[in-house]
Amino acid sequence: MENYKVTLIKGDGIGPEIADAVVEIFKCANVPIEWEEAYAGLESSEKRGNVLPEETLDSIKRNKVALKSPTTTPVGKGHKSVNVTIRKKLDLFANVRPAKSLPGVKTRFDNVDLLIVRENVEDTYAGIEYYQTPDVAECLKIITRQGSTAVARYGFELARTLGRKRVTCVHKANIHKLTDGLFLECFQEVAKDFPEIQADDIIVDNVCMQLVSKPEQFDMLVLPNLYGDIVSDLCAGIVGGLGVAPGGNISNDLAVFEAVHGSAPDIAGKGLANPIALLLSAIQMLRHLKLLSHAHRIETALRLTLAAGIKTRDLGGNCSTQEFTKGIISNIPVEIESDPLKTPMMEKQQVPPMASDAAAEPKATNNVNWKCDGIDIFVQSKGLPKMTESFENFTLTTISNRGTKVYPGTMPDILLVDWFTCRFTADGEFGDTEIARLLQHVTALGYEWTHVEKLFSKDGAIMYTKAQGE
Ligand code: NAI
Repeated sequence: MENYKVTLIKGDGIGPEIADAVVEIFKCANVPIEWEEAYAGLESSEKRGNVLPEETLDSIKRNKVALKSPTTTPVGKGHKSVNVTIRKKLDLFANVRPAKSLPGVKTRFDNVDLLIVRENVEDTYAGIEYYQTPDVAECLKIITRQGSTAVARYGFELARTLGRKRVTCVHKANIHKLTDGLFLECFQEVAKDFPEIQADDIIVDNVCMQLVSKPEQFDMLVLPNLYGDIVSDLCAGIVGGLGVAPGGNISNDLAVFEAVHGSAPDIAGKGLANPIALLLSAIQMLRHLKLLSHAHRIETALRLTLAAGIKTRDLGGNCSTQEFTKGIISNIPVEIESDPLKTPMMEKQQVPPMASDAAAEPKATNNVNWKCDGIDIFVQSKGLPKMTESFENFTLTTISNRGTKVYPGTMPDILLVDWFTCRFTADGEFGDTEIARLLQHVTALGYEWTHVEKLFSKDGAIMYTKAQGE
C-alpha cells in the first residue's frame, strides 16, 4: 500500500502529548503514514526565532496534508495566531467541524450530529485593525462575494456527499446588513444549485439559544468566520467539551487538520490531556486521504474505549493520556465487522470533497453602474468638529459619532468619543485630486483625518450604511 507523507506540527502546551498519542495509535493500527515533523508556535519562536518558519509552510505545501496540534498565542500582544496565519497563507478557506455525540461522554443531549462549516479567512479575522485615536480602535469586517460563495458551495457539496438533508446559514444580516447580507445572499444563490437539500437561515443569537435548547434540530451550519469560531465551540460544549471537538481546514488542494481546543497550558506536562479532539481530527484526515477502513477501525476503537468507561479526567474518567491511549490501542479491531458502536463522524463512508471539486470559481460582479457619490472622512476631534459646510464640489451632509448622527439637528444625549465621521457628498464629478484638496482643507481646519471611505452607489442604490438618525 502507498505510504502517505503528512506534515506533523506538535505545537505548544499539551500539543506534543496529544500528538504523540495519535502517532502511537496510528502506528499500532498500521496506518500507512510517514510523518514529517515541522515546527510552529511559541516554542518554535523561542527555539528557532520564528513562530511559523517558512520550512513548515513548505512542508504542508509539499505534502498537501498536515495534522496540527494547538499552538499558544499571546493575548492582546505578541505574534498573530499561528492558526490564523496558516489559514490565511495557505488560503484554507473552509473549516469543517463535526460535533457528534460520543458513547460514554455524558452530556445534556444525546444523538447530536452536527456539521459546522465555517468561513476561515475573512470577516474580522482578516486581522485588519487600526487605532484611530489613542482611545478608539477599529477593525474592518471583510466579507467578499468570492469567499462567501466558495464556503457556501463547499458546504453544499459536503452536504450532498454525506447525504445531509438541511444546510442552515447563520448570520446577523439584520444588523450587519451589507456584510452579513452579502454572505446570506451568496448562500442563497448557491443553494439554488442543490435543490434536493433544504436551505434556510437563522440569526446568530437565535441559533445559540436554539442550540443549547434543542441541538438535534440542526443538520449542517454554514457561518462567517467570527460566528463560526464561537458557535463551533458552543457545539463542542454540547457534545462533551473542547476535548472532543475536531476540525479540518480545507483549501482547493491543501488540508490542515487540528483540534478545536488550544494548548491548555494549565494542564500541560501533567498527563491529563485528552487526545480525542486531535485523534478525531486525524480520523477526519484519514477519510480525506481515502484511508477509509483505517479511519473506521480507529474510530471504532475510540468509541469502544469510551463506552467501556475508559476516559481522561476532563470527561469524568481517571485515566492519564497514556492510559487512555493504551485503552484505544487495545480496542483496535483487526477487521471491521458490524459493530453496534461504530458510528463514524461523517456518517457515510464517503470521502469529503476537496474544495476544488466544489465547482466553478465564483465570479466577481463587475463595476457597471458603480458610482462614487462622496466620501466619509474620519477625524480626531475633542467634541463636535467645526467642519466646513461645503468645499468645492463637496457638501457636508452629516457628522456622526460611533455610528449615530450628531450633526445637523439636535445633538443626541450619547457618549461622544474623540472620533467623528464627516460625510461629504459631491455634486458632479470628482476624483483623487479633489479628494486630496478636501483632505488638505480638513487638515488646515486643524483636524487630523485618520481614515477615508468612498461612498459608492450601484444602479442608484447606496452601497454604504447611513448613520443612526441620518
Ligand atoms: P484551551 O482550549 O487551551 O483551554 C481551555 C480549557 O479547556 C482549559 O481549562 C484546558 O485545560 C481545557 N482543555 C483544552 N483542551 C483540552 C484537552 N485536550 N484535554 C483536557 N482539557 C483540555 O483555551 P485557552 O486556555 O483559552 O487557550 C490557551 C492557548 O491556546 C492560548 O494561547 C490560545 O491562543 C491557544 N489556542 C490555540 C488554538 C489552536 O492552536 N488551534 C485554538 C484555541 C486557542
